[in-house]
Amino acid sequence: MIRFGSRQPIVMNGRERFLGAIELKPVDRTPVWVMRQAGRYLPEYRAMKAVYGFRGMVTQPEVASEVTIQPILRFPSLDAAILFSDILVIPEAMGMAYSFRDEGGIGMEWQFATEQDLMRLQPGSIMDRLGYVLDAAKRVKVRLGGERALLGFGGSPWTLATYMVEGGSSRDFATIREMTVRDPSLLEQLLERITEATISYFRALVAAGVDAIQVFDSWGSACPDGTYEKWSIRWIRDIISEVGNDVPVILFSKGMSAYREEWKSTGARVFSLDSSVSLRMWAEADPGRAYAVQGNLDPELLNGDPESVVAETRKVLGSVGSLRGHIFNLGHGILPDANIECVEAMLDTIVEQSPADQAG
Ligand code: CP3
Repeated sequence: MIRFGSRQPIVMNGRERFLGAIELKPVDRTPVWVMRQAGRYLPEYRAMKAVYGFRGMVTQPEVASEVTIQPILRFPSLDAAILFSDILVIPEAMGMAYSFRDEGGIGMEWQFATEQDLMRLQPGSIMDRLGYVLDAAKRVKVRLGGERALLGFGGSPWTLATYMVEGGSSRDFATIREMTVRDPSLLEQLLERITEATISYFRALVAAGVDAIQVFDSWGSACPDGTYEKWSIRWIRDIISEVGNDVPVILFSKGMSAYREEWKSTGARVFSLDSSVSLRMWAEADPGRAYAVQGNLDPELLNGDPESVVAETRKVLGSVGSLRGHIFNLGHGILPDANIECVEAMLDTIVEQSPADQAG
Protein backbone atom coordinates (compact mmCIF):
# COMPACT_ATOMS: atom_id res chain seq x y z
CA MET A 1 0.00 0.00 0.00
CA ILE A 2 0.99 3.60 -0.52
CA ARG A 3 1.84 5.98 2.31
CA PHE A 4 2.57 9.67 2.12
CA GLY A 5 5.15 11.55 4.12
CA SER A 6 3.22 14.08 6.18
CA ARG A 7 5.76 16.75 5.15
CA GLN A 8 4.76 16.63 1.51
CA PRO A 9 0.99 16.68 1.46
CA ILE A 10 -0.70 16.24 -1.90
CA VAL A 11 -3.35 18.91 -2.15
CA MET A 12 -6.32 17.88 -4.24
CA ASN A 13 -9.64 19.51 -4.86
CA GLY A 14 -12.87 17.62 -4.19
CA ARG A 15 -13.36 16.55 -7.77
CA GLU A 16 -9.83 15.15 -8.06
CA ARG A 17 -10.16 13.41 -4.71
CA PHE A 18 -13.52 11.88 -5.62
CA LEU A 19 -12.43 10.71 -9.09
CA GLY A 20 -9.04 9.61 -7.75
CA ALA A 21 -10.69 7.33 -5.20
CA ILE A 22 -12.87 5.79 -7.92
CA GLU A 23 -9.71 5.01 -9.89
CA LEU A 24 -8.11 3.53 -6.74
CA LYS A 25 -5.41 6.19 -6.86
CA PRO A 26 -3.86 7.56 -3.67
CA VAL A 27 -5.73 10.59 -2.33
CA ASP A 28 -4.87 13.18 0.35
CA ARG A 29 -7.94 12.25 2.41
CA THR A 30 -11.05 10.13 1.93
CA PRO A 31 -13.56 11.91 -0.32
CA VAL A 32 -17.08 12.35 1.07
CA TRP A 33 -20.62 13.15 -0.02
CA VAL A 34 -23.97 12.27 1.55
CA MET A 35 -26.98 10.58 -0.03
CA ARG A 36 -29.88 13.07 0.04
CA GLN A 37 -27.44 15.77 1.08
CA ALA A 38 -29.92 18.40 -0.11
CA GLY A 39 -32.95 17.64 2.00
CA ARG A 40 -35.31 18.40 4.82
CA TYR A 41 -32.68 18.41 7.59
CA LEU A 42 -31.39 21.72 6.11
CA PRO A 43 -33.36 24.87 7.07
CA GLU A 44 -32.39 26.49 3.75
CA TYR A 45 -33.91 23.50 1.90
CA ARG A 46 -37.15 23.77 3.89
CA ALA A 47 -37.32 27.49 3.10
CA MET A 48 -36.98 26.80 -0.64
CA LYS A 49 -39.54 24.02 -0.47
CA ALA A 50 -42.04 26.30 1.28
CA VAL A 51 -41.84 28.64 -1.72
CA TYR A 52 -41.57 26.29 -4.70
CA GLY A 53 -42.81 22.88 -3.53
CA PHE A 54 -40.87 19.70 -4.28
CA ARG A 55 -41.86 19.52 -7.95
CA GLY A 56 -41.14 23.20 -8.46
CA MET A 57 -37.66 22.74 -7.02
CA VAL A 58 -37.00 19.80 -9.33
CA THR A 59 -38.39 21.32 -12.55
CA GLN A 60 -37.06 24.89 -12.34
CA PRO A 61 -33.36 24.75 -13.23
CA GLU A 62 -32.36 27.88 -11.29
CA VAL A 63 -34.04 26.50 -8.19
CA ALA A 64 -32.76 22.94 -8.67
CA SER A 65 -29.21 24.22 -9.09
CA GLU A 66 -29.52 26.43 -6.01
CA VAL A 67 -30.81 23.51 -3.90
CA THR A 68 -28.01 21.29 -5.25
CA ILE A 69 -25.42 23.82 -4.10
CA GLN A 70 -26.96 24.49 -0.65
CA PRO A 71 -25.17 21.64 1.16
CA ILE A 72 -21.86 22.59 -0.52
CA LEU A 73 -22.14 26.17 0.74
CA ARG A 74 -22.93 25.02 4.25
CA PHE A 75 -20.41 22.18 4.33
CA PRO A 76 -17.41 23.12 2.15
CA SER A 77 -15.69 19.78 2.86
CA LEU A 78 -18.21 17.88 0.73
CA ASP A 79 -16.32 16.68 -2.34
CA ALA A 80 -19.28 16.10 -4.64
CA ALA A 81 -22.65 17.65 -5.36
CA ILE A 82 -25.54 15.40 -6.40
CA LEU A 83 -27.93 17.00 -8.81
CA PHE A 84 -31.20 17.77 -7.07
CA SER A 85 -33.89 15.69 -8.78
CA ASP A 86 -35.66 12.38 -8.23
CA ILE A 87 -35.56 8.90 -9.72
CA LEU A 88 -39.27 9.32 -10.55
CA VAL A 89 -38.64 11.94 -13.24
CA ILE A 90 -38.11 9.01 -15.63
CA PRO A 91 -41.54 7.38 -15.17
CA GLU A 92 -43.00 10.88 -15.33
CA ALA A 93 -41.28 11.59 -18.66
CA MET A 94 -42.48 8.17 -19.88
CA GLY A 95 -46.06 9.22 -19.20
CA MET A 96 -46.72 8.30 -15.56
CA ALA A 97 -46.63 11.27 -13.18
CA TYR A 98 -45.83 10.98 -9.46
CA SER A 99 -47.09 12.82 -6.40
CA PHE A 100 -46.74 12.68 -2.63
CA ARG A 101 -49.41 10.89 -0.65
CA ASP A 102 -50.85 12.77 2.32
CA GLU A 103 -50.00 9.82 4.57
CA GLY A 104 -46.37 9.80 3.29
CA GLY A 105 -44.77 7.93 0.43
CA ILE A 106 -45.25 8.25 -3.32
CA GLY A 107 -48.39 7.77 -5.38
CA MET A 108 -48.19 7.24 -9.14
CA GLU A 109 -50.84 8.66 -11.46
CA TRP A 110 -51.79 5.21 -12.74
CA GLN A 111 -50.69 1.63 -12.29
CA PHE A 112 -48.93 -0.39 -14.97
CA ALA A 113 -50.77 -3.72 -15.30
CA THR A 114 -51.47 -4.81 -18.88
CA GLU A 115 -50.07 -5.10 -22.39
CA GLN A 116 -52.18 -2.07 -23.38
CA ASP A 117 -50.41 -0.01 -20.74
CA LEU A 118 -47.21 -0.33 -22.78
CA MET A 119 -48.88 1.95 -25.33
CA ARG A 120 -49.27 4.64 -22.67
CA LEU A 121 -45.50 4.79 -22.17
CA GLN A 122 -43.40 6.96 -24.46
CA PRO A 123 -39.71 6.19 -23.98
CA GLY A 124 -38.47 7.33 -27.41
CA SER A 125 -38.94 11.01 -26.74
CA ILE A 126 -38.36 11.22 -23.00
CA MET A 127 -35.53 13.74 -23.39
CA ASP A 128 -38.01 16.21 -24.91
CA ARG A 129 -39.53 16.37 -21.46
CA LEU A 130 -36.36 16.31 -19.37
CA GLY A 131 -34.54 19.35 -20.69
CA TYR A 132 -34.93 20.97 -17.28
CA VAL A 133 -32.64 18.38 -15.67
CA LEU A 134 -29.90 19.04 -18.22
CA ASP A 135 -30.27 22.78 -17.78
CA ALA A 136 -29.92 22.36 -14.01
CA ALA A 137 -26.85 20.13 -14.46
CA LYS A 138 -25.14 22.70 -16.69
CA ARG A 139 -25.82 25.47 -14.19
CA VAL A 140 -24.44 23.44 -11.30
CA LYS A 141 -21.39 22.49 -13.34
CA VAL A 142 -20.58 26.17 -13.87
CA ARG A 143 -21.09 26.99 -10.20
CA LEU A 144 -18.84 24.15 -9.06
CA GLY A 145 -16.07 25.45 -11.33
CA GLY A 146 -14.36 22.06 -11.46
CA GLU A 147 -13.63 22.24 -7.72
CA ARG A 148 -16.10 19.50 -6.85
CA ALA A 149 -17.49 16.50 -8.66
CA LEU A 150 -21.01 16.57 -10.02
CA LEU A 151 -23.06 13.39 -9.71
CA GLY A 152 -26.07 12.49 -11.79
CA PHE A 153 -28.30 9.61 -10.77
CA GLY A 154 -31.23 7.43 -11.68
CA GLY A 155 -33.18 4.47 -10.38
CA SER A 156 -32.49 0.92 -11.52
CA PRO A 157 -35.14 -0.33 -13.95
CA TRP A 158 -36.41 -2.81 -11.32
CA THR A 159 -36.68 -0.13 -8.63
CA LEU A 160 -38.57 2.20 -10.99
CA ALA A 161 -40.79 -0.69 -12.09
CA THR A 162 -41.80 -1.30 -8.45
CA TYR A 163 -43.29 2.22 -8.32
CA MET A 164 -44.97 1.82 -11.71
CA VAL A 165 -46.45 -1.62 -11.07
CA GLU A 166 -47.37 -1.05 -7.42
CA GLY A 167 -48.84 2.38 -8.21
CA GLY A 168 -46.47 4.04 -5.74
CA SER A 169 -44.53 3.22 -2.58
CA SER A 170 -45.14 -0.31 -1.36
CA ARG A 171 -44.60 -2.24 1.81
CA ASP A 172 -44.54 -5.78 0.43
CA PHE A 173 -44.13 -5.43 -3.38
CA ALA A 174 -46.87 -8.05 -3.76
CA THR A 175 -48.13 -6.82 -7.14
CA ILE A 176 -44.79 -6.75 -8.92
CA ARG A 177 -43.70 -10.05 -7.33
CA GLU A 178 -46.90 -11.58 -8.62
CA MET A 179 -46.22 -10.14 -12.09
CA THR A 180 -42.80 -11.87 -12.17
CA VAL A 181 -44.71 -15.17 -12.11
CA ARG A 182 -48.04 -14.37 -13.79
CA ASP A 183 -46.75 -12.28 -16.69
CA PRO A 184 -42.96 -12.27 -16.87
CA SER A 185 -42.90 -11.18 -20.50
CA LEU A 186 -44.98 -8.10 -19.75
CA LEU A 187 -42.64 -7.13 -16.92
CA GLU A 188 -39.67 -7.75 -19.19
CA GLN A 189 -41.09 -5.37 -21.77
CA LEU A 190 -41.60 -2.73 -19.11
CA LEU A 191 -38.03 -3.15 -17.87
CA GLU A 192 -36.76 -2.91 -21.42
CA ARG A 193 -38.60 0.40 -21.94
CA ILE A 194 -37.26 1.82 -18.68
CA THR A 195 -33.74 0.66 -19.54
CA GLU A 196 -33.93 2.36 -22.93
CA ALA A 197 -35.22 5.59 -21.36
CA THR A 198 -32.53 5.49 -18.69
CA ILE A 199 -29.74 5.03 -21.23
CA SER A 200 -30.80 8.12 -23.16
CA TYR A 201 -31.19 10.03 -19.90
CA PHE A 202 -27.73 9.06 -18.65
CA ARG A 203 -26.16 9.86 -22.03
CA ALA A 204 -27.68 13.32 -21.88
CA LEU A 205 -26.46 13.81 -18.29
CA VAL A 206 -22.96 12.85 -19.39
CA ALA A 207 -23.15 15.35 -22.26
CA ALA A 208 -24.28 17.98 -19.73
CA GLY A 209 -21.08 17.35 -17.77
CA VAL A 210 -21.75 15.00 -14.84
CA ASP A 211 -18.54 13.38 -13.53
CA ALA A 212 -20.17 10.15 -12.35
CA ILE A 213 -23.59 8.52 -12.11
CA GLN A 214 -25.13 6.65 -9.20
CA VAL A 215 -27.73 3.97 -9.87
CA PHE A 216 -30.16 3.54 -6.98
CA ASP A 217 -31.38 -0.06 -6.88
CA SER A 218 -33.12 0.71 -3.63
CA TRP A 219 -35.53 -2.21 -3.88
CA GLY A 220 -33.24 -4.86 -5.38
CA SER A 221 -33.92 -6.98 -2.31
CA ALA A 222 -37.60 -7.20 -3.32
CA CYS A 223 -36.73 -9.49 -6.25
CA PRO A 224 -38.08 -12.97 -5.51
CA ASP A 225 -35.36 -15.33 -4.27
CA GLY A 226 -33.07 -16.45 -7.08
CA THR A 227 -34.22 -13.78 -9.56
CA TYR A 228 -31.95 -10.82 -8.74
CA GLU A 229 -29.95 -11.39 -11.95
CA LYS A 230 -33.05 -11.73 -14.11
CA TRP A 231 -35.07 -8.82 -12.75
CA SER A 232 -32.52 -6.29 -11.60
CA ILE A 233 -28.83 -6.91 -12.37
CA ARG A 234 -29.27 -7.70 -16.07
CA TRP A 235 -30.85 -4.31 -16.81
CA ILE A 236 -28.29 -2.42 -14.77
CA ARG A 237 -25.55 -4.20 -16.74
CA ASP A 238 -27.23 -3.13 -20.02
CA ILE A 239 -27.24 0.49 -18.86
CA ILE A 240 -23.65 0.48 -17.66
CA SER A 241 -22.45 -1.17 -20.87
CA GLU A 242 -23.82 1.88 -22.70
CA VAL A 243 -22.51 4.67 -20.48
CA GLY A 244 -19.85 3.11 -18.27
CA ASN A 245 -17.02 3.89 -20.67
CA ASP A 246 -17.84 7.59 -20.55
CA VAL A 247 -18.30 8.07 -16.79
CA PRO A 248 -17.81 5.84 -13.76
CA VAL A 249 -21.02 4.36 -12.38
CA ILE A 250 -21.70 3.81 -8.68
CA LEU A 251 -24.16 1.05 -7.78
CA PHE A 252 -26.25 1.23 -4.62
CA SER A 253 -28.29 -1.96 -4.31
CA LYS A 254 -29.59 -1.86 -0.79
CA GLY A 255 -29.48 -5.07 1.21
CA MET A 256 -27.77 -7.04 -1.57
CA SER A 257 -24.07 -6.91 -0.65
CA ALA A 258 -23.95 -10.72 -0.49
CA TYR A 259 -24.28 -10.70 -4.30
CA ARG A 260 -20.77 -9.43 -4.95
CA GLU A 261 -20.27 -11.43 -8.16
CA GLU A 262 -23.55 -10.15 -9.59
CA TRP A 263 -22.52 -6.60 -8.65
CA LYS A 264 -19.12 -7.04 -10.32
CA SER A 265 -20.77 -8.35 -13.48
CA THR A 266 -22.53 -4.99 -13.99
CA GLY A 267 -19.32 -3.11 -14.77
CA ALA A 268 -19.95 -0.56 -12.01
CA ARG A 269 -16.72 0.98 -10.70
CA VAL A 270 -17.96 1.68 -7.18
CA PHE A 271 -20.28 -0.27 -4.87
CA SER A 272 -22.17 1.62 -2.20
CA LEU A 273 -22.75 -0.40 0.96
CA ASP A 274 -25.62 0.01 3.38
CA SER A 275 -25.04 0.07 7.13
CA SER A 276 -25.98 -3.55 7.73
CA VAL A 277 -22.53 -4.66 6.50
CA SER A 278 -19.05 -4.32 7.95
CA LEU A 279 -17.22 -2.31 5.31
CA ARG A 280 -13.94 -3.77 6.55
CA MET A 281 -15.04 -7.39 6.24
CA TRP A 282 -16.69 -6.76 2.89
CA ALA A 283 -13.59 -5.10 1.39
CA GLU A 284 -11.17 -7.61 2.90
CA ALA A 285 -13.07 -10.56 1.45
CA ASP A 286 -11.90 -9.48 -2.02
CA PRO A 287 -8.29 -8.34 -1.51
CA GLY A 288 -7.55 -8.00 -5.23
CA ARG A 289 -10.55 -5.77 -5.83
CA ALA A 290 -10.42 -3.44 -8.83
CA TYR A 291 -13.46 -1.40 -7.74
CA ALA A 292 -13.94 1.26 -5.09
CA VAL A 293 -16.33 1.04 -2.14
CA GLN A 294 -18.66 3.73 -0.82
CA GLY A 295 -20.29 4.02 2.55
CA ASN A 296 -21.44 3.30 5.11
CA LEU A 297 -22.04 5.26 8.34
CA ASP A 298 -25.47 4.48 9.80
CA PRO A 299 -27.68 7.50 8.98
CA GLU A 300 -29.47 7.09 12.34
CA LEU A 301 -26.26 8.16 14.11
CA LEU A 302 -26.66 11.67 12.74
CA ASN A 303 -29.84 12.05 14.80
CA GLY A 304 -27.82 11.48 17.98
CA ASP A 305 -24.82 13.13 19.63
CA PRO A 306 -21.67 14.40 17.85
CA GLU A 307 -19.30 12.34 20.11
CA SER A 308 -20.66 9.01 18.86
CA VAL A 309 -20.56 10.33 15.32
CA VAL A 310 -16.83 11.06 15.68
CA ALA A 311 -16.13 7.57 17.04
CA GLU A 312 -18.19 5.76 14.42
CA THR A 313 -16.80 7.92 11.60
CA ARG A 314 -13.26 6.94 12.67
CA LYS A 315 -14.31 3.32 12.61
CA VAL A 316 -15.64 3.58 9.06
CA LEU A 317 -12.55 5.52 7.94
CA GLY A 318 -10.18 2.90 9.30
CA SER A 319 -12.09 0.01 7.86
CA VAL A 320 -10.97 0.17 4.26
CA GLY A 321 -7.37 0.17 5.34
CA SER A 322 -5.72 2.60 2.97
CA LEU A 323 -6.34 5.96 1.39
CA ARG A 324 -7.41 4.35 -1.81
CA GLY A 325 -10.67 3.22 -3.26
CA HIS A 326 -13.00 4.50 -0.53
CA ILE A 327 -15.65 7.20 -0.80
CA PHE A 328 -17.18 8.06 2.54
CA ASN A 329 -20.99 8.21 2.63
CA LEU A 330 -23.92 7.07 4.73
CA GLY A 331 -25.46 3.62 4.40
CA HIS A 332 -28.63 5.24 3.04
CA GLY A 333 -30.09 8.74 2.70
CA ILE A 334 -29.71 11.27 5.50
CA LEU A 335 -32.88 11.48 7.60
CA PRO A 336 -35.06 14.62 7.89
CA ASP A 337 -34.31 14.93 11.63
CA ALA A 338 -30.50 14.68 11.31
CA ASN A 339 -28.59 17.24 13.42
CA ILE A 340 -26.42 19.72 11.55
CA GLU A 341 -23.78 19.44 14.35
CA CYS A 342 -23.57 15.71 13.73
CA VAL A 343 -22.99 16.24 10.01
CA GLU A 344 -20.25 18.74 10.91
CA ALA A 345 -18.69 16.30 13.37
CA MET A 346 -18.63 13.62 10.68
CA LEU A 347 -17.05 15.93 8.10
CA ASP A 348 -14.49 17.38 10.53
CA THR A 349 -13.39 13.88 11.47
CA ILE A 350 -12.86 13.03 7.81
CA VAL A 351 -10.98 16.26 7.08
CA GLU A 352 -8.70 15.80 10.10
CA GLN A 353 -7.85 12.32 8.93
CA SER A 354 -4.20 11.83 8.18
CA PRO A 355 -2.59 8.89 6.42
CA ALA A 356 -1.16 7.82 9.77
CA ASP A 357 -4.71 7.19 11.00
CA GLN A 358 -5.09 4.48 8.46
CA ALA A 359 -4.54 0.92 9.51
CA GLY A 360 -3.29 -1.75 7.12
O1 CP3 B 1 -29.27 12.66 -2.82
C1 CP3 B 1 -29.66 13.79 -3.16
O2 CP3 B 1 -29.47 14.82 -2.49
C2 CP3 B 1 -30.32 13.95 -4.53
C3 CP3 B 1 -31.71 13.98 -4.47
C4 CP3 B 1 -32.54 12.72 -4.43
C5 CP3 B 1 -33.91 12.77 -4.15
N1 CP3 B 1 -34.44 11.55 -4.37
C6 CP3 B 1 -34.63 13.98 -3.73
C7 CP3 B 1 -35.77 13.75 -2.85
C8 CP3 B 1 -32.24 11.39 -4.74
C9 CP3 B 1 -30.90 10.76 -5.07
C10 CP3 B 1 -33.46 10.67 -4.71
C11 CP3 B 1 -33.56 9.24 -5.07
C12 CP3 B 1 -34.81 8.52 -4.80
N2 CP3 B 1 -36.08 8.99 -4.90
C13 CP3 B 1 -34.87 7.16 -4.47
C14 CP3 B 1 -33.70 6.23 -4.35
C15 CP3 B 1 -32.87 6.59 -3.16
C16 CP3 B 1 -33.18 5.85 -1.92
O3 CP3 B 1 -33.39 6.55 -0.91
O4 CP3 B 1 -33.10 4.64 -1.90
C17 CP3 B 1 -36.22 6.82 -4.31
C18 CP3 B 1 -36.75 5.45 -3.91
C19 CP3 B 1 -36.98 7.97 -4.60
C20 CP3 B 1 -38.44 8.13 -4.60
C21 CP3 B 1 -38.83 9.04 -3.53
N3 CP3 B 1 -38.72 10.42 -3.60
C22 CP3 B 1 -39.29 8.72 -2.22
C23 CP3 B 1 -39.56 7.33 -1.73
C24 CP3 B 1 -39.45 9.92 -1.52
C25 CP3 B 1 -39.90 10.11 -0.09
C26 CP3 B 1 -41.38 10.26 -0.02
C27 CP3 B 1 -41.79 10.63 1.41
O5 CP3 B 1 -42.65 9.95 1.93
O6 CP3 B 1 -41.19 11.58 1.96
C28 CP3 B 1 -39.08 10.97 -2.40
C29 CP3 B 1 -39.06 12.40 -2.09
C30 CP3 B 1 -37.75 13.05 -2.11
N4 CP3 B 1 -36.86 12.96 -3.13
C31 CP3 B 1 -37.22 13.93 -1.13
C32 CP3 B 1 -35.99 14.38 -1.59
C33 CP3 B 1 -35.08 15.36 -0.93
C34 CP3 B 1 -37.95 14.35 0.15
C35 CP3 B 1 -38.86 15.46 -0.22
C36 CP3 B 1 -39.19 16.30 0.99
O7 CP3 B 1 -39.87 15.81 1.88
O8 CP3 B 1 -38.76 17.46 1.02
